[in-house]
Amino acid sequence: MVAWVDFGQPSFWLAAGSIVFNPTFWNIAARQEYHNKAITKLFGGNSRLGCYALAVTIFSLGIIRDYIYHTALSHQPTHPLLTSSPPIHLSAIPLFLTGNLLVLTSMYALGITGTYLGDYFGILMDEPVTSFPFNVTSAPMYHGSTLSFLAAAIWAGKPAGLLLTALVALAYKVARRYEDPFTAMIYAKRDREGRREGKKGL
Ligand SMILES: *[C@@H]1O[C@H](CO)[C@@H](O)[C@H](O)[C@H]1NC(C)=O
Repeated sequence: MVAWVDFGQPSFWLAAGSIVFNPTFWNIAARQEYHNKAITKLFGGNSRLGCYALAVTIFSLGIIRDYIYHTALSHQPTHPLLTSSPPIHLSAIPLFLTGNLLVLTSMYALGITGTYLGDYFGILMDEPVTSFPFNVTSAPMYHGSTLSFLAAAIWAGKPAGLLLTALVALAYKVARRYEDPFTAMIYAKRDREGRREGKKGL
């Protein structure tokens, strides 16, 4: 009986911790910004600069998380079923391409502030983005990122990677449950206030 996931590897737990940490961090940071203008204050009252700084931070945390994930996979046992079956092994390629396409095109469609929580800084989009990839999935960034984790796990043939990918999906699911209503509230508030402004103008 061979264990296909080596839970004794500290790198596995470091990867799990990093996967859970990232969305937790950006949600705490964004709420602190929304309620207390914490990041804007840190940048001398310049909310756009604050948002860019948060973007760089989140982006860097993502790179670190990916690095830890790949290191963790290298310490894990390989399952022959994943590596010896060409259809399974090669499925990693379209998964990887789809994942990256979703992430990159959604960043392009949203811009930096749209991608990195600008709403919480008061930098709102004029209207919801409905162009590709938002016409195929409501959360292309999250789904694309999850697909990239899955692709890496399959390509390396690591069951531990599949488990960590499930954790990524769960972490994003929880994040969305927390973020989506809040973002909707921010925009609903803007629309209400916009209407009042409009009435005043009449
Ligand atoms: C989404 O938009 C793209 C580009 O405009 C288009 O090619 C594609 O058919 C659309 N997909 C759906 C499901 O509407």
